[in-house]
Amino acid sequence: MKFEILKSTLEQIQTDLVVIFTSKKPDSKSESKSEKGKSSERKSGSTSKASTKGDSKIASKEASRVVVEGVSKAVQVKLMTAADEGSISGSAAECVLFRDANLAGARHILAVGLGGMKAFDSESLRQAAATAFNGAKGAKVKTIALAMDSLPHTSIEADTVMQAITEGITLSSYSFNEFKTGKKESVIETVQIVSSHKVKGFEKGLETGEIVANCVNFSRWLGDRPGNLMTPTMLADETVKAAKGTKLKVTVWDAKKIKSEKMGSFLSVSLGSVQEPKFIVMEYNGAASSKKPVCFVGKGLTFDSGGISIKPSGGMEEMKYDMCGGANVIGTLLACAKLKLKVNVIGLVPTTENMPGPNANKPGDIVVARNGKTIEVNNTDAEGRLILNDALVYACEQKPAAIFDAATLTGAMVVALGNLHTGFFTRNDKLAKTIDEAAKESGEWVWRMPLTDFHVRDMKGTYADLSNISSSKGAGSATAAGFLEQFVDKDIPWAHFDIAGTGWHIGDRVPYAPRKGASGAMIRTFIQLAQAF
Ligand code: BES
Ligand code: MN
Ligand code: ZN
Repeated sequence: MKFEILKSTLEQIQTDLVVIFTSKKPDSKSESKSEKGKSSERKSGSTSKASTKGDSKIASKEASRVVVEGVSKAVQVKLMTAADEGSISGSAAECVLFRDANLAGARHILAVGLGGMKAFDSESLRQAAATAFNGAKGAKVKTIALAMDSLPHTSIEADTVMQAITEGITLSSYSFNEFKTGKKESVIETVQIVSSHKVKGFEKGLETGEIVANCVNFSRWLGDRPGNLMTPTMLADETVKAAKGTKLKVTVWDAKKIKSEKMGSFLSVSLGSVQEPKFIVMEYNGAASSKKPVCFVGKGLTFDSGGISIKPSGGMEEMKYDMCGGANVIGTLLACAKLKLKVNVIGLVPTTENMPGPNANKPGDIVVARNGKTIEVNNTDAEGRLILNDALVYACEQKPAAIFDAATLTGAMVVALGNLHTGFFTRNDKLAKTIDEAAKESGEWVWRMPLTDFHVRDMKGTYADLSNISSSKGAGSATAAGFLEQFVDKDIPWAHFDIAGTGWHIGDRVPYAPRKGASGAMIRTFIQLAQAF
């Protein structure tokens, strides 16, 4: 799929389908925050939900609130007539196809609602662009054009507008279908960005948006591949391959090196598998060497069977996604390098399988981490923390400005927050504020979770310093965070992101994520965080 920025009127172009954005006039009574384009509804094709059973009075009252601008008289008349009839309302996530309209240089017109403009932000645009793309895909067309003049004026900068739109479309274009034999579904080949005048910032926004979204899509692909086709070795190889031609340096440690580097906790998790563990070290230096790096650590369990404390078989196939934290750190580092950001970043991904082989950890086994702390493995399924801890110790040795880790760490996180918010844990209030701002900027949802000495106390071991499971009931995500904290130097700002709920299957939340599949959660936020120090 390629993008083209065109300075032209709609009438002068030739395309299969043109997207016209509509919105709602401000109305103090009915426009509320909740109307913001963050609805979970996904409408597409020629469905129209605005119809009010022929009640023309209500329809025309609604119609008077629909805004259609920056289009020719003919298009305006067409859409306002539809509004009059109650077919379009300008609501967020609305997507109505006018087949064979043969107006505005296009065969079809797709009217995509933005909702009210009061709470409108770049995430609303990302979602609207995704809705438009999905609607166009449903119409089985090859070329589409976005009528940029139809976007209402906002205070959002032009490059941000373009980046959000490009991300919405590029993220929506991802699907994991390489193992489906037979006829491939039709794809959109060209997306034209059409405006009547040249807009400064569109090129830059397009370039940034494409890099970011392609890196997210790459991480999704790493996550979507099944365990047999994305082993730790393959994950490392794919990272090396993806970094070619960029200034991202990738070093891969094998089991022997992991052992000699005293990562005994990480190594222990790998012992039940025939697959060799790998420690992927990524470094990108875009700033002066005097600038402290920002360090990202990601959990890379290419398959988590639970080990000897084996998981129930129902749904176990989802544990191929247990490397999404790692995949998303890889995506973050790639994006930083491809965007040529003026930052220094390090990415660390311990990657292994968790299997119940003859050498596997047994409940009660005691292992020694890189910082010398001893750990009782009382449940071999609490393995994420056993590989992250050694990586966190190594991260601290790099004397970073901050450390962020991403991990599909606990089922308890899914219970607490579901698949909308990623829970994060930090005791550092300033860092929490930085994270909230970064997530707002990137359009991802995060929620700060508690982390206290009580949670840490629950992780004390009976025969060793620590146990890998909590001695009390509940707060399983916080006690896991409390465990990880024991491997981070007190003076280094650190936050742990539990993406167990948001790492995959979030397509019911946002129109730019696959219904089923890895999401790339926190990559966009991490790219922001890389630039926050
Ligand atoms: N990878 C899982 C966590 C997980 C479960 C993520 C379901 C997404 C969906 C992790 O390794 C795990 O098994 N955690 C255990 C910890 C427990 C044994 C203390 C859990 O959450 O049940
Ligand atoms: Mn597990
Ligand atoms: Zn796991």
